[in-house]
Amino acid sequence: MSLLDQIDKNKLPKHVAVIMDGNGRWAKEKGKLRVFGHQNGVVAVRDTVEGAVAAGIPFITLYAFSTENWNRPKLEVMALMELLVATINKETKTLMDNGVRLNAIGNLSLLPERCRRQLEEAIHKTSANSRCTLTLALSYSSRWEIVEAAKKLAQKVQEGDIAPDDINEQLFSESLTTGDMPDPELMIRTSGEFRISNYLLWQLAYAELYFTQKLWPDFRREDLYEAIIDYQKRERRFGMTSEQVN
Ligand code: FPP
Repeated sequence: MSLLDQIDKNKLPKHVAVIMDGNGRWAKEKGKLRVFGHQNGVVAVRDTVEGAVAAGIPFITLYAFSTENWNRPKLEVMALMELLVATINKETKTLMDNGVRLNAIGNLSLLPERCRRQLEEAIHKTSANSRCTLTLALSYSSRWEIVEAAKKLAQKVQEGDIAPDDINEQLFSESLTTGDMPDPELMIRTSGEFRISNYLLWQLAYAELYFTQKLWPDFRREDLYEAIIDYQKRERRFGMTSEQVN
């Protein structure tokens, strides 16, 4: 039986979040420049997204570039931005063919103009697709996002739209960049690192975490399916007892 067939379609995570890590190490292992790792990371992105669509996952969010990544060597940052523009350009047709809606979260105002324009175009073109929403976290950090949400709510209080007591978990969630999505139920990180790295800190409160030694460029849909099968074996208690949830 294939891995896809082993997945229980009634217990799918509605939202899978991924930290794509290990591109640099993958390239180094092969005696190549880091950029070579990022280029091959795109192959993994394509296969993982297609695999998510085939499995019926409605939301997948990829950590493509963190706020902290701006501190990398200028040449690597520029190469990553170029790769992003080229990939979005090239893959829009694949997104359309697969019914995937593209979305982006993060401080997009920091992206180079060309990159932002390409992104906006692809987001617009794919906006009517409804099989799966692919969100790219770009120039994203969770603490930035939480501070922005707090500012938005403070502004609403100041303008008299809401009272401080109206602020609750739901309103706060809706004020985040992921306001229109369900929280991720499964978070996958590749390359054997056991960290969250400022990624969706609020939204991952009850997510199941899955870590694999695989470096991102080697990650394929079968690895996603293994993570989903592992997720489906777990007992999600949300603070209750095992007896209560069963
Ligand atoms: C982490 O590996 C990866 C990144 C910072 C960039 C991720 C980008 C891609 C996979 C390519 C473009 C993506 C899209 C969505 C088009 P690392 O460089 O930190 O690896 P290391 O930890 O081994 O150094």
